[in-house]
Amino acid sequence: MKRLTIRDIQKMKDDKQAIPMLTAYDAMSARIAESANIPMILVGDTLGMVVQGHDSTIPVTLEHMIYHCEIVSRVTKRPLIVGDLPFMTYSISQEQALENSGQLIQKAGVSAVKLEGGETVAPTIKRIVDAGIPVMAHIGLTPQSVNQFGGFRVQGKQLESARQLIRDAEAVQAAGAFAVVLELVPAKLAQIITDKLHIPTIGIGAGAACDGQVQVFHDILALFDDFIPKHTKRYANLGDMMRAAVSQYADEVLHGEFPTEENAFGMSDEVIAALEDEKVHAHS
Ligand code: KIV
Repeated sequence: MKRLTIRDIQKMKDDKQAIPMLTAYDAMSARIAESANIPMILVGDTLGMVVQGHDSTIPVTLEHMIYHCEIVSRVTKRPLIVGDLPFMTYSISQEQALENSGQLIQKAGVSAVKLEGGETVAPTIKRIVDAGIPVMAHIGLTPQSVNQFGGFRVQGKQLESARQLIRDAEAVQAAGAFAVVLELVPAKLAQIITDKLHIPTIGIGAGAACDGQVQVFHDILALFDDFIPKHTKRYANLGDMMRAAVSQYADEVLHGEFPTEENAFGMSDEVIAALEDEKVHAHS
């Protein structure tokens, strides 16, 4: 089966076909996403929150990303895999950004990298794209700058900040990004940006007019409980189901109800008799 490429993703926009994107971090989530025909998987640095249990994405390192990206790339065949460049792995210099992008491609097998920022990171995007590595940009609420923003807040609500986001979107497109994530942006502004760009916009908390949507695996399945982002929808409450199942298991062990004979393994009567015989002689 041929893996999808950035050309296939562009064609989806050109054909006005919506692009569902989902995060995945391990073999289970990646296989589920692929079996649901998700065309593009993001191995996001949200893993810092939903897998590692931190309260932001900032502690995630390049080594963590390589570990998770390698798993997701290896166990999938068809979806385009995008690997996140974590905090401080692309902002020191263009050389640093290129080298780290190369590691995600070469060691972890992803097809593209994602980095946060608009106009200011456009030259870095160009440097990476010129080296043959597809880049997905990410503007609006950029979680790696949570300390600068003072929280996870909607961006671009005021005229000047909205104009800046339009300039950011145009700058990353001009730099060669193949798509751009719009996170926590008013729906109308996301629509204006989507209409202006020829590359796909992928929204998260940016309304229905974006060319695609991205959601966090743990959010849509209610596996992440620290808070429920307004932009998400819980399609199943697996968290509650898993807690109930694990409690039942613990209760059954405590009360001697598990395991039963059904879960146990037998041995021949002959061997049992020999063992019983040895037991008797050992005591005489
Ligand atoms: O890291 C991530 O999962 C992301 C998405 C929320 C867009 O950046």
